[in-house]
Amino acid sequence: MSAVTTSAPTALRPGLASVLDANLAAYQTLADDYRETSPQRLRHAARWLQDPEQGRPLKPVAAGHALDIGCADGSHAFLLAERGYNVTAVDFSSRMIELARSRDTQALQGPGPTFLEGEFLTGKFFDAAGEVAPPLDRKFELVVANAFIHLFPKPADEDVVRRALELVAPGGLALFSTTIEDIRDENFFAKTRMNGTAVERWRGHYPKDDFLSLVRDAAGDGFVITDLLTADLRGKPWLTVFARHRANDPD
Ligand SMILES: C[S@@+](CC[C@H](N)C(=O)[O-])C[C@H]1O[C@@H](n2cnc3c(N)ncnc32)[C@H](O)[C@@H]1O
Repeated sequence: MSAVTTSAPTALRPGLASVLDANLAAYQTLADDYRETSPQRLRHAARWLQDPEQGRPLKPVAAGHALDIGCADGSHAFLLAERGYNVTAVDFSSRMIELARSRDTQALQGPGPTFLEGEFLTGKFFDAAGEVAPPLDRKFELVVANAFIHLFPKPADEDVVRRALELVAPGGLALFSTTIEDIRDENFFAKTRMNGTAVERWRGHYPKDDFLSLVRDAAGDGFVITDLLTADLRGKPWLTVFARHRANDPD
């Protein structure tokens, strides 16, 4: 049986709010850098945004819904929309969401992504009119959490994976990605901006087996777990863990 049992937004663990505040301040500052690095991040996405069974770009089978968690400037959300997904994308940085919403939708054949501003675990989101959006109460054929889980201190990282898995539709797929390190550690680390200044945000570092176990333990046996080791654009090892919901498996 799957370890994933609830569908309610998650209460924040004690002490987590101050980490989230610091991360929010960091990503508000980093938004301009994300706009600049969008082409590089899209090139990188070609390496990990794959169907794990087919080894080719992910495409919806029918009218697939996708959720991009921590969508930043919307680069990946637009890529998924171009591939035919009906995309919802969330981020707590108002500056990131502003950039995402101001992207040109003209090249899209179908509907553009819906961008919601809000913190993922608490699950309160605001729509483009600044109104409280309905909670995420649907399931998604694809849930993407790229470079996201490592922003949460242990054990909140487990809460995030569990919450993401709760949102996967029967037969659907979740993707979790991070860099791979030799030792597990976590702390506030500086991230250098394109202009040479630095901001601090919480960052976990995971050896491969730790990150795999994080997803495996949260998923229980309701999901099939596979992984793909590639490189990020600077050549650092980049791990994507795929969790395929087993619902369509014949018993
Ligand atoms: C490292 S960036 C990754 C962006 C994007 N997924 C990518 O792969 O390029 C993390 C993003 O998640 C957002 N974020 C971080 N913590 C969040 C939270 N608790 N709730 C919602 N968004 C969050 C940040 O604002 C930032 O845009």
